[in-house]
Amino acid sequence: MVFKGELLKMDSMERVVSLCKRRGFIFQSSDIYGGLSNSWDYGPYGVELKNNLKRAWWKANVYERDDILGMDAAILMHPKVWEASGHVKNFFDLKSDCKSCKLRFKASDLKDKNKCPECGGQLTEERAFNLMFETNYGAVEDKESVIYLRPETAQGMFVNFLNILDSRHSKLPFGLAQIGKAFRNEITPGNFTFRTREFEQMEIEYFVKPDDAEKAYKEWVETRYQWYLNLGISKENLRLRPHGKDELAHYALACTDIEYKFSFGWSELEGIANRTNFDLKQHAQYSGKDLRYFDDSTKERFYPYVIEPSGGVDRATLAFLVDAYYEEKVRDDIRVVLKINKDLAPVKVAVFPLLRNRPEIVGLAKKIAGGLKKNFICVYDDTGAIGKLYRRQDEVGTLFCVTVDVQSLEDKQVTVRDRDTMLQERIGIDKLKEYLNTKLTI
Ligand code: GAP
Repeated sequence: MVFKGELLKMDSMERVVSLCKRRGFIFQSSDIYGGLSNSWDYGPYGVELKNNLKRAWWKANVYERDDILGMDAAILMHPKVWEASGHVKNFFDLKSDCKSCKLRFKASDLKDKNKCPECGGQLTEERAFNLMFETNYGAVEDKESVIYLRPETAQGMFVNFLNILDSRHSKLPFGLAQIGKAFRNEITPGNFTFRTREFEQMEIEYFVKPDDAEKAYKEWVETRYQWYLNLGISKENLRLRPHGKDELAHYALACTDIEYKFSFGWSELEGIANRTNFDLKQHAQYSGKDLRYFDDSTKERFYPYVIEPSGGVDRATLAFLVDAYYEEKVRDDIRVVLKINKDLAPVKVAVFPLLRNRPEIVGLAKKIAGGLKKNFICVYDDTGAIGKLYRRQDEVGTLFCVTVDVQSLEDKQVTVRDRDTMLQERIGIDKLKEYLNTKLTI
């Protein structure tokens, strides 16, 4: 019997936050010490989802293209990098502190510049607050040893431009891609993992001839928008928002944000910017190295322009979670189901014995799970009644549940249940791998 449940799309962030904790996707950092605010740890399902997302990004941008190379730069870089990039001078927010409750506010968020929105106390004058985390490099703590945790991965690619040209002889247009941690001492972090002080970015620096920049910029906006749609984000929850001239970062000629409609409003998942030749020129000036590209055909040397699609791993992970979260009415019951794309789903298959007090059934189920584990992310579970086991897997988005029953011992078949349709099919154990392979590669 098949129940086509009524879909109830919930957009409440609270329910997703609760699911994340309940099922081990995301936990508060340092929980047993009362938690470090706005800092989050990815648990067993969260890390799988996040890794799948990064893998999908890397596959689409590095493996499936001929013009992009991957790299992984160090988080700690020469402090001059951040002088050249403009972060030391320009990467700050204006903030005010409350003299009574000591809370700190971003000046642009304040309606009344003098009065604390929390306790009504008096606010200090606005002061510039650099968002980069400072630390000391090496054993001596002095002015010379000051170094920054990178606030973006991008600069690691600009400072390796020459190394890539020398080692790979790449021809324009070509790009570099990188995924890694970035740190910003945000004044107003919040909305779960949306704005945090430690986060992961997935960035591309795509180098082009200056005359080709406009066209490449438009293409990248479209390509990146499609990537989210291809992985299943609902079209009505995704939009492109070109920046006004007054919003542009100090290095950008143009920028378009890809935004997701969270319950707290339309918010940026990724920005695609035309960074011109700003960064290469700056690093050439500060390092004294010639970072111009030599064009064999015209015999000209010039600084390429850069188109930069820059996305947040944590923000994308959150958007995919929220978008996939459903509460579905099945008879008189509500099932929570994560209808997440098959490539992103943390677990692909779960195997259960229908009767856990029958050693032959348990043994066969374990054997089947052991075999599947070689090809798929597969879990074995016998810690509850079948209905409970199904619900548990639905909540984390497991695509298929395989049940071994008494009949399986006789006919060598198992019941395979599809997460979304809840349709059940009897499949021969010897055909199971092929069946799942076909379903998972469509
Ligand atoms: N290299 C360009 C750059 O860093 P950005 O718009 O400042 O541009 C790019 O950041 C992406 O990094 C954002 O679209 C967002 O997804 C992510 N991001 C930025 N700050 C973040 C924060 N505090 N918490 C989580 N993600 C953040």
